[in-house]
Amino acid sequence: MISRKLSLLAIVTLFCMIFIEITQSVPYSGSVAYCDFPDPPEDVPVGRITFANFGSTRDYGTRVYGQFNQGFKKDANINNYEFVAETREGKINYTKEFRKSIKISSVGGTAPFQIDYKGDFTIVNKIVGGKFNIIHKGVKVVSGEIKHV
Ligand SMILES: *[C@@H]1O[C@H](CO)[C@@H](O)[C@H](O)[C@H]1NC(C)=O
Repeated sequence: MISRKLSLLAIVTLFCMIFIEITQSVPYSGSVAYCDFPDPPEDVPVGRITFANFGSTRDYGTRVYGQFNQGFKKDANINNYEFVAETREGKINYTKEFRKSIKISSVGGTAPFQIDYKGDFTIVNKIVGGKFNIIHKGVKVVSGEIKHV
């Protein structure tokens, strides 16, 4: 009798574990922020950067992606630009990854770019309400507000 109860318990436990497994591998969604660089009067970067959580419990992170239509014509050397978020908790420097991922086109825009910060789900919450700055040779050329979608 006891062993029957135990095996029933084992089966129930097994189903619970399968259920938890299924529900937890559903991709996370909802946490998305973006930063617009709207049309300015001069040739400064215009475009959008989006920050979105992706993945499941085992493989997750924050995907940062975007594109610029213009703004990099005067100096097409990406290594002269810095990409820095100003948040409540201080500065987050994205320069290294942005330089690696951004290709400037002949008209001074960029191809779409995408950077995955694997294992980090905190980026969206950290940066919302902050500003994203693009700096050229030490001078801030554009600053956008980072907002929740
Ligand atoms: C950001 O990182 C780049 C490259 O690693 C560095 O050259 C730059 O000084 C840093 N900028 C800030 C504001 O921390």
